Amino acid sequence: MSVDDVEAVMAVIEAARVALTEAELRPARPTSSAQVEAHRVSHARFVERDGPGAWVATDGDRVVGVAESVRRGSFWGLSMLFVHPEFQGRGVGGQLLEAASSYAAGASQRMIESSPDPRAMRRYFLAGLAMHPGAELDGRPDRRGIPPSLPGRESDETDLDLVASVEAHLGRSRTEDVAFVLKDDRCRLDVVDTGPGRGWMVSRPDRLLMLGATDERTAAALMWRHLAGCEEETQAYGLTAAQQWAFTVAYEARLSVRVTGALFVDGMAVPGPWLPSGWYF
Ligand SMILES: CC(C)(COP(=O)(O)OP(=O)(O)OC[C@H]1O[C@@H](n2cnc3c(N)ncnc32)[C@H](O)[C@@H]1OP(=O)(O)O)[C@@H](O)C(=O)NCCC(=O)NCCS
Repeated sequence: MSVDDVEAVMAVIEAARVALTEAELRPARPTSSAQVEAHRVSHARFVERDGPGAWVATDGDRVVGVAESVRRGSFWGLSMLFVHPEFQGRGVGGQLLEAASSYAAGASQRMIESSPDPRAMRRYFLAGLAMHPGAELDGRPDRRGIPPSLPGRESDETDLDLVASVEAHLGRSRTEDVAFVLKDDRCRLDVVDTGPGRGWMVSRPDRLLMLGATDERTAAALMWRHLAGCEEETQAYGLTAAQQWAFTVAYEARLSVRVTGALFVDGMAVPGPWLPSGWYF
């Protein structure tokens, strides 16, 4: 993939998402123009930061599929695998996954947050990753459930050291991705750094994007901080049975919990006080 492919890649992803919605595998979710712009910048970053993990499939001059992945030390994560609906079911996705997997050579940990597309989940399981069925949350939080006092504060890039130390505690490595995501001024960082637990969270009003904490109590407090700031609908994805603390918060806040997709991991357990963004793990 090159930076010049970004527009074509975005068109493939959009067409594949529409088909998923039509197949009732994904709710219709409108994308704002700010979100489209953020995606454009993010796809280009895969080429610039993780070039060996970013591949397109072509039919002649036409881009018909994409795989984008990240490598952070001994960790590899697949962030994107999409094939245009006209080319699905012909082995293109399998070839793209194989190409992106070359970037995983020597990695001891692998992770993929999968959509509920059965073709995707088959590919990931056959690639040797363990399947952890997933769930997502959405809705407008019931403000009556919000605890009266919550630890933590809103922060910014000056707290990336805290992010790094919590990531090290979790065996994760998202600090540079957090720094990148925070360049989008719709995103904010919250941290908890007083008391026994430490943690951080990146969120936008419409979505809790990523979270890491030393313990479940701190993770739950961070999620409550997010919900306390939400006047409208919000979402969180990528939950598994390892995140019972998040289901507790979700049900107390009267959010909807939908079982969908799966998290695939290899060489590691699913971290508990943690949420992935789908792009960054
Ligand atoms: C997921 C996706 C990338 C796979 O690409 P693809 O080119 O369609 O996949 P392939 O043809 O390489 O492989 C599909 C596999 O699923 C199998 N399959 C097809 N339909 C299936 C079904 N309904 N249930 C289970 N397996 C199915 C195929 O037989 C094939 O397996 P095999 O090669 O072992 O026989 C593509 O379908 C897609 O873009 N889906 C929508 C977007 C999406 O959800 N992406 C995943 C994001 S994490």
